[in-house]
Amino acid sequence: MTSYSLRNASPAKSRADAVVVGVVTGPSGPTVAPGGQDVAKAYGRKLAPLLSALGVTGKAGETVKVPTSGTISSPMLVLVGLGSDPDHLAVRRAAGNAARSVTNAASVAVALPADTPELVRAAAEGYALGAYSFTTYKASGPSKSPGEVVVLSPVARKKDAIAAFEEGQVIAGAVARTRDLVNTPPNDLRPPSFADTIADIVKERGRGGKVTIQVLDETQLAELGCGGLLGVGSASDAPPRLVTLTYTPKGAKRHLALVGKGITFDSGGLSIKPAASMHEMKSDMAGAAAVLNATFAIADLGLPLQVTTYAALAENMLGGSAMRPGDVITIHGGTTVEVLNTDAEGRLVLADALVLATEQKPDAILDVATLTGAMVVALGDKVSGVMGGDDVVADVLSAARTAGEDFWPMPIPEQMSERIHTTKIADLSQHDWIRWGGGLFAAAFLREFTAGLPWAHLDIAGPSFNSGGPAGHVSSGGTGVAVSTLVEFARAFAEEK
Ligand code: BES
Ligand code: MN
Ligand code: ZN
Repeated sequence: MTSYSLRNASPAKSRADAVVVGVVTGPSGPTVAPGGQDVAKAYGRKLAPLLSALGVTGKAGETVKVPTSGTISSPMLVLVGLGSDPDHLAVRRAAGNAARSVTNAASVAVALPADTPELVRAAAEGYALGAYSFTTYKASGPSKSPGEVVVLSPVARKKDAIAAFEEGQVIAGAVARTRDLVNTPPNDLRPPSFADTIADIVKERGRGGKVTIQVLDETQLAELGCGGLLGVGSASDAPPRLVTLTYTPKGAKRHLALVGKGITFDSGGLSIKPAASMHEMKSDMAGAAAVLNATFAIADLGLPLQVTTYAALAENMLGGSAMRPGDVITIHGGTTVEVLNTDAEGRLVLADALVLATEQKPDAILDVATLTGAMVVALGDKVSGVMGGDDVVADVLSAARTAGEDFWPMPIPEQMSERIHTTKIADLSQHDWIRWGGGLFAAAFLREFTAGLPWAHLDIAGPSFNSGGPAGHVSSGGTGVAVSTLVEFARAFAEEK
């Protein structure tokens, strides 16, 4: 375990095994960024030719390690590119890159720009997120991470900087737990064991406000008439679960409900998916993992609002008892749905959970789901879509901006309401065979289960799983996207009205 601390000290005098300093691109060549000036001073006139000989430019993504040979107290200097005019997001990315480039140091001092609380948080959060790795299944065991990371800041003793630093660690912890769940192979994370893991986290939480958990099993789901969860999970011998977390701090004025899609594996069911990318569908529970861990983070931070979180967990498999195209299922609350494609399963489990959420009459509902390939086609794999009521969508976008996550608003056109009503035998059609606008169709379907309450739907199908290499603070595999946005949303929401 790495311990993080915040200190006001000179990076040149730090005895850490490695010191991280930022480099900014400029019209007359690269310069050392604020936070690292002491190091620049120690090098004096030797610095410019050294940077030039090393090919250091300061552009974002660059990391260069330099043995210091006594010029500063630490034996190694890590130069990380910050680009031209770095903000907190550039610092977060650079800290992540630095963390990955330091491979064998017991202690690291991070001397990136950190003279505001926002920058302090970015440096701490970025380093922790960049250092993330998932090695549970590797014989080699966990990769070497430093025992001690010290973030250096001139405002280290200021209350708001300390709070921001701690916030960065809470968020990084919640994102890392989300990544772990998404990365866990689907044979080891099925609905019952997923629910058990969350129950363990609830039990072991040491800090912050109280969170309680309720887990409904298949018998209880049947009693409640949760035909979406039961239909989708019917061919799996690991039955569905509905996990509910409640956080009710004293004096909370507003109540937020979070709903997450938790398909622990999406084979597509009888409408089976092509083989080539099916393995990535272990990540189809990223929405559930995000809402659950965001709830823990909100409670850790003691934000003053009530949160009720629903994770709809099922495994979408094939078998003699599988849900069929043509089946009509009944969602909790009585709405009937004609199933036309068993691979459009997310909206069915979410429907049950959304109706359960509306019964608590929250002030707003956010659902988070790896819902549609169509959203990935529309926005690519780094941008999430957000749909729903205008006000809630605007608040999600503003929270995402603060959190530094890319979300983009998408419409729910009037025509989609017609398309979800084309079935001749049930209340709603789960699917039609028109390819276009599949992400918007899905949103229109979900809206039917929100009882007209303020609501937004976050489709994270693309950004939830990074099939490529790591970059900045974003690891490969599960990314933990949406956690940070949800926490920022909750923070602003608590203050509204
Ligand atoms: N889990 C998938 C969506 C998905 C696709 C997530 C790619 C992450 C990456 C979802 O259950 C699904 O299969 N959606 C179908 C819906 C279609 C059958 C209407 C899709 O998008 O193809
Ligand atoms: Mn599917
Ligand atoms: Zn799915």
